[in-house]
Amino acid sequence: MSVILAIESSCDETSVAICNNGKITANVIANQTIHENYGGVIPELASRVHQQNIVPVIQQALTDAKVTKKELNAIAFTRGPGLLGSLLVGVSFAKSFALALDLPLVSVNHMHAHILAHFIDDPKPKFPFLCLTVSGGHTQIVLVKDYFDMEIVGETLDDAAGEAFDKTAKILNLPYPGGPLIDKHAKEGNPKAFKFAEPQIKDLNYSFSGLKTSILYFIRAQEKLNPEFIAENLNDICASVQHSIVHILLNKLKRAAAQYGIKEIAIAGGVSANSGLRSALQDMAGQLNWNVYIPAFQYCTDNAGMIAIAGYHKYLKGDFVGQDVAPLSRMEF
Ligand code: KG4
Ligand code: ZN
Repeated sequence: MSVILAIESSCDETSVAICNNGKITANVIANQTIHENYGGVIPELASRVHQQNIVPVIQQALTDAKVTKKELNAIAFTRGPGLLGSLLVGVSFAKSFALALDLPLVSVNHMHAHILAHFIDDPKPKFPFLCLTVSGGHTQIVLVKDYFDMEIVGETLDDAAGEAFDKTAKILNLPYPGGPLIDKHAKEGNPKAFKFAEPQIKDLNYSFSGLKTSILYFIRAQEKLNPEFIAENLNDICASVQHSIVHILLNKLKRAAAQYGIKEIAIAGGVSANSGLRSALQDMAGQLNWNVYIPAFQYCTDNAGMIAIAGYHKYLKGDFVGQDVAPLSRMEF
């Protein structure tokens, strides 16, 4: 029997989940809306809001899972990577909670957890599989050989895919985080309306900074001719930008699958919530005979459910850390 409480506070979501014998029985996520006004996450504000949210979110998770503190067997937490001030709130809380309840502590790498979210629900991928992890801070193609035996085989050399969405949204005067809004407008637009420069990067790596610049110059030039260009073409611009990002992402994933001879393919991270990416991946899977694994929406963006399942698999191995553990803003993969 194992009941694990997990805490995620690496960026701007305060989240707590409970994993009861491998099943997620609570996954409470408190989003921080305060950052919308600033066009990006303000680290100092994020840590203050985590501080306010952490206790009510813990209590809600215990209530949702119908468990008491006494029934817990371990505390799992995100150690990194992420914003240091935000991580500190979750890590400090996890340590004090474990100390007070005399429970073992399980440290989880946030990027491993995005991938391990695939082991929450059925169907689960079979090892070895390839996972394209696309979030606000990372874009990686990972060869997953076992739960904690993973190798990055391709990654971005500059911006992450989520940043490409968010920075484009900023150019289009959409609030932060812009990814979901681009997705929404793209549904009404023509993906072939505008074409943007595609990066020419060798091997399995990515680059998104050139795309962002190409979009910026294009929009500025069009606005000189027609100041209402964005307003009049918002849906088409969003659909075209999304089409470009998805095309770039899947091109390299296809190459990685061929190179490693793997047909078990997963996507993870906040951008895996994108409807254009999800449907293009399904199409590619049909053509190439892949088995694809796409997480439920609540396990795509940051959530403690994924920390809880990763923590559960570490708990089974008896992989614990001591009270001297500290958060790491940059954490080795
Ligand atoms: O994994 P995540 O919640 O946080 C990080 O660890 O970074 O990912 C957040 C990123 C943001 O850049 C956000 O704009 C993007 O995921 N995102 C989306 C969508 N939903 C979230 N991007 C495109 N389409 C979406 N539907
Ligand atoms: Zn994340």
